[in-house]
Amino acid sequence: MNQKGGVGKTTTTINLGHALVITGKKVTLLDMDPQGQIATGYGLENNVSGLDDVLLNDMALDDVKVQARDNLFVVPAGKQLGEFELVTSGGSARGHKLRQAIEASSLHDQDFILIDCPPSSGLLGVNAMFAAGEIVIPVSSDYLSLQGLSRMIPIVKRAESLSGHEIKLWLLSTRMDLRRRLAHEVRNKILNYFPGRVFKTMIRENVALAECPSFGKTIFEYKPTSAGAEDYFSLAHDLLERRMS
Ligand SMILES: Nc1ncnc2c1ncn2[C@@H]1O[C@H](COP(=O)(O)OP(=O)(O)O)[C@@H](O)[C@H]1O
Ligand SMILES: [Mg+2]
Repeated sequence: MNQKGGVGKTTTTINLGHALVITGKKVTLLDMDPQGQIATGYGLENNVSGLDDVLLNDMALDDVKVQARDNLFVVPAGKQLGEFELVTSGGSARGHKLRQAIEASSLHDQDFILIDCPPSSGLLGVNAMFAAGEIVIPVSSDYLSLQGLSRMIPIVKRAESLSGHEIKLWLLSTRMDLRRRLAHEVRNKILNYFPGRVFKTMIRENVALAECPSFGKTIFEYKPTSAGAEDYFSLAHDLLERRMS
């Protein structure tokens, strides 16, 4: 999650998800962004029932999940997901729809459920935060991305107190151009402000990561020897071993 667009939320959901599967985990990806790019990234249709029907029409997650790869399910956004932001009835219960849908599903047997969030913190983002135990905030190497991060912190804190459960925060340096001084400055800032909460692995800017969605492939299928594949695999290890800087 990050309110700023273009920081690598979707790229991370797609490729960290597949990296975890490659290390032997069972993973489900939930696409909470109405743009529906998770399905596309895996070469699937978004033109189907998805989270829109779960949130708007109380359909079961198990009825809309799609097997994307071995040990990997995707729940597409569906075409109507954006309408959920406009729902006004239901009071505070509206924020708990996703959490309840997960609790009522067979997704408990998954090792990881990754939720790709929209670049906003409206009702869709609230549902994601109420459902999640941990939030990864990708921070790309520019100052606007840092601003997005500082806006996120009070929102996550508020979600934590409203939902009554602890939400662990992790930061991830994304789109790093290691030759640029600014990239290192931004990383040093987040390391200073969030000691122990920043993933050791930095995701480098890598053109193959930008290319692979148009082929419906993850980086591990499109260019398994690329820097992008190396970085997302390393990130999966960070997550499993809690390796932090
Ligand atoms: N590490 C990277 N290297 C190169 N391109 C990237 C990288 N991460 C993301 N991109 C590209 O940047 C754009 C925005 O990334 P995306 O994951 O969609 O961000 P968000 O979901 O936060 O809006 C996309 O075109 C994506 O392919
Ligand atoms: Mg996105």
